[in-house]
Amino acid sequence: PLRVAVLASGRGSNLQAVIDAIEAGRVEATIVAVISNKKDALALERARKHGLPDVFVDPKPFAGRPDSRVAYDHALLDVLRRHDVELVLLAGYMKIITAVLIDAYANRMMNIHPSLLPSFPGLDVQKKAIDWGCKLAGCTVHFVTEGVDEGPIILQAAVPVLDGDTPDTLAARILEQEHRIYPRAVELFAEGRLRVEGRRVFIDGGKPVGDAIL
Ligand code: GAR
Repeated sequence: PLRVAVLASGRGSNLQAVIDAIEAGRVEATIVAVISNKKDALALERARKHGLPDVFVDPKPFAGRPDSRVAYDHALLDVLRRHDVELVLLAGYMKIITAVLIDAYANRMMNIHPSLLPSFPGLDVQKKAIDWGCKLAGCTVHFVTEGVDEGPIILQAAVPVLDGDTPDTLAARILEQEHRIYPRAVELFAEGRLRVEGRRVFIDGGKPVGDAIL
C-alpha cells in the first residue's frame, strides 16, 4: 500500500478522517508517520491511539538561524526519507514549508484548506468569507507548490453561508466536508487516478476531478 506521512500541528481531525478511511478499507494506504512541530498536538495522540508512529520534530534548536525554516525542513525530509514516504499530507500544519520539501515531494504533497481557493488563501478564512458576504464557502484539497495555498486543485466541496453564521459555525460546516474530500483525494492518488497538467488536475484522464465528484 501507498506509504503516507501526515504533518499536523493541532487537533488532527483531518488526520483522523484519513485514519478512519484506511481502517475501513476505503483507502489503500498505510500511515507510516504522523509528524508534528508541536509536542502536545492532539494529532500525535491520535496517532499513538491507532498504533501509528508519532514523531515530534522540535523547531527550537533551529530558531534564530537565518535559514531556520530550511534547516527544519531538512530535518523533516530526513524523517520522510527514513520512512520511505511516498505521499505527504499537510493536515492543519501551521508552518510555512520551504522548497526543500516542496521540490522533494512535487505532486506528491497535498494540503487541505478551508476555503474555495483561489478565494481566501491564508488564515482566518471562514471569517473572511462571512465578512465578504459570500453565499458559498467550502474547502479545497490541492497539491503543494511554492505559493502558499496556490497549488493545483484536486477536489473542492462547497457549503452555504447562513445568515446567523459565526466563523465557528461556518468552520464546523466546512470541516465536515474536509473530512469527506481529503480521504477521497488520497484514495484517488493511491489508485493512480490523478494526473497534473499545469494548474489542472485530471482524474482517469477524463474530466477535471471536481466535476467528476461533486
Ligand atoms: C482545518 O480546517 C484545515 O483546513 C485548516 O486547519 C484546520 C485543521 O483542523 N488548515 C489551514 O487553515 C491551513 N492553512 P484539524 O487539525 O482538525 O485537521
